[in-house]
Amino acid sequence: MKNLGTLKKDFPQLNKSVRGNPFVYLDSAATALKPQSVIDRINHYYSFEIANVHRGAHFFADQGTGFYEAAREKVARFIGSTSSDEIIFTRGTTESINLVASILGDGTLKAGDEILLTELEHHSNIVPWQLVAEKVGVKIRVAPILESCDIDLNTFKNLLSANTKIVSFLSVSNALGVLNPVKKMIQMAKEVGAITLVDAAQSVTTIPTDVQAWGCDFLTFSGHKMFGPTGIGVLYGKNSLLNSLPPYQGGGSMIDQVSFEKTTYLRAPQRFEAGTPHVAGAVGLHAAIDFIESIGIQNIREVEKQLVAQTVKELQAISGVKVLGNPSERINVVSFVIDGIHHGDLGALLDQQGVAVRVGHHCCQPLMKKLGVEGTVRASLSIYNTEEDVDRLITAVKKAKEFF
Ligand code: ALA
Repeated sequence: MKNLGTLKKDFPQLNKSVRGNPFVYLDSAATALKPQSVIDRINHYYSFEIANVHRGAHFFADQGTGFYEAAREKVARFIGSTSSDEIIFTRGTTESINLVASILGDGTLKAGDEILLTELEHHSNIVPWQLVAEKVGVKIRVAPILESCDIDLNTFKNLLSANTKIVSFLSVSNALGVLNPVKKMIQMAKEVGAITLVDAAQSVTTIPTDVQAWGCDFLTFSGHKMFGPTGIGVLYGKNSLLNSLPPYQGGGSMIDQVSFEKTTYLRAPQRFEAGTPHVAGAVGLHAAIDFIESIGIQNIREVEKQLVAQTVKELQAISGVKVLGNPSERINVVSFVIDGIHHGDLGALLDQQGVAVRVGHHCCQPLMKKLGVEGTVRASLSIYNTEEDVDRLITAVKKAKEFF
C-alpha cells in the first residue's frame, strides 16, 4: 500500500493554500480530488487523441472508439458485470436514476404499483420517482431509519408486497455515511419480485461492488466521486431487462434504421446513449479506476475507517458537538451540529482556516427533517487525508466555537 503522505503528492490541488493556510480537503463526498494520472490522461486525450466515436473512417476515430469501449469493459470488470453491454455511460448518478425512472414509467409501471425508497435517500433518488408517480399514478413508500440511523430492516421488509414494483436505495448515505446491508435488502426485494436499483455513488471507491453477488437489476455511480471527471457516470443494468425497455432519448448512435414512418433501435448499451458521448470522461474514468486499483479498495476502506473513527471520537469530545447517527458501519462521512452555532456560520469559519467541508441539507431534506435539523456540517474523508487533516478540523472547530 502506498504511504499516505506520498499519496497526497498525487493530488496537485492539495498543494494549494487557502486564505493563507495549507489546504485541507474534507469534502470528498461532494466530489473527490483528481490525481495527476487522471488529469494527465484527459489532457493527453484532448491534446493528441480527440475524435468522435462509432463513426468516422480515420485512425483517431478508430482509436477513440477503442478507448471508449475499453473504458466500458474496465467499468464492467470493476463492478463484477460479465458483459460490457450492461454498462451505459451517463452524465452521472442523477441522470442514471432519471433514465431508469423514465423508461420504467413508460410502460412497465401501472397505476396502483408501489415504489419503495428509504429515508436516507438523496433528492436524486426521490424526485425522479415522484415525477413518474405523478405521471403514472404509482405510490411512493418510504422505509424508515432507526435511532442509530441504520435502516429499519423489519419495517423495510413489512413495506414490501406484491404491489412493490421498484425498490431503489443508496448503498451508503452521502449525508451520514451509513452503510446499508445492500445484499440483504436486494434479497428481500427479490422475494416480492421487485426491480432493484442501487445508488452506489458514495460506496464505489470504498466497498467492493459486485453486481452479480448483490443481484441488483440496476446500479449507478458518478465518475467525479471516484477521482474521475465530472459529467460522466455509469448505469449498470441487467442485459435482458435493458433490452426489453424503451429508449430514454432519441438521436444519433442509438438507432438501427430510421425512416419518417418508423425507427428501430439498437440493443443496449447503444440504445441508451443518444448523441456524441463524453469520450474524454470515459477515458478519464478508465484512468480513475486504474488509480483506485493501484491503491486497492480494501486499503482505501482501511484508511477511511481509521480517519472516520478518529474524527467521530475527537468531535464527540468537544462540548456542544453532536455527531449525527450511530450506525453499525459508518463509511467516509461524519455529519455534525454544534449547539447554538448555525452550520453555515461554522462552515465559513472553517473555510477561513483553510478547512473545506460541506454544510446544509446535503440534498437530503427529508432526512434532515427526520433528524430534526435544518442542516449539518459534513466532513467527508478520502485516501489523500491524514490524521493531521483531522487534527486541523478539530482545531478549526474549537477555534470557531470561540467566536460564539
Ligand atoms: N451528492 C453530493 C454530496 O453529497 C454532491 O455532496
